[in-house]
Amino acid sequence: MSVPRPLADIAFDGLELELPTPADTEALGERIGAELSAGDVVLLSGPLGAGKTVLARGIGRGLGVLGAITSPTFVLAREHPPAPGGRGVTLVHVDAYRLGGRAELDDLDLDTDLREAAVVVEWGEGLAEALAGRHLLVRLRRRDDDSRVATVVRVGPS
Ligand SMILES: Nc1ncnc2c1ncn2[C@@H]1O[C@H](COP(=O)(O)OP(=O)(O)OP(=O)(O)O)[C@@H](O)[C@H]1O
Ligand SMILES: [Mg+2]
Repeated sequence: MSVPRPLADIAFDGLELELPTPADTEALGERIGAELSAGDVVLLSGPLGAGKTVLARGIGRGLGVLGAITSPTFVLAREHPPAPGGRGVTLVHVDAYRLGGRAELDDLDLDTDLREAAVVVEWGEGLAEALAGRHLLVRLRRRDDDSRVATVVRVGPS
């Protein structure tokens, strides 16, 4: 999969962000979604329950897309078309946990051309190179007090 245009400039690239509540995680996603363009790829990594789907939900809100964003564990990928008044970009939400790699992602046979969508992949670390030379990586981790910390890194050639 190629990325035809540069990933948006994310102002908080490289930062560690404290996310005390799910609402904070969703708000971070909303900020990311508001910056994304067609062809952008965002990888969400972190253990089970880290908040990847919550973050993806925020990204969907920031983009302005239709359909509830829930865990795609049993469907591998869901397409969310743009909502009226949104940014006009389809969101493809993938759970890569069971995907072997690029070949399988290409084989998903989605209606949407991935170059024309913003693609958010849960559990994507390790598939990064196969997906896109350039992407945004958000790592989520859970603290003992159950709060979350996110690190946001832009990966690939600038
Ligand atoms: N600060 C926080 N940010 C995000 N989620 C939080 C936070 N605090 C508690 N939670 C809870 O943790 C859970 C995160 O679930 P979520 O489905 O987003 O995780 P996930 O990383 O997608 O898991 P999976 O690996 O199963 O896909 C939710 O129930 C959410 O309410
Ligand atoms: Mg999930």
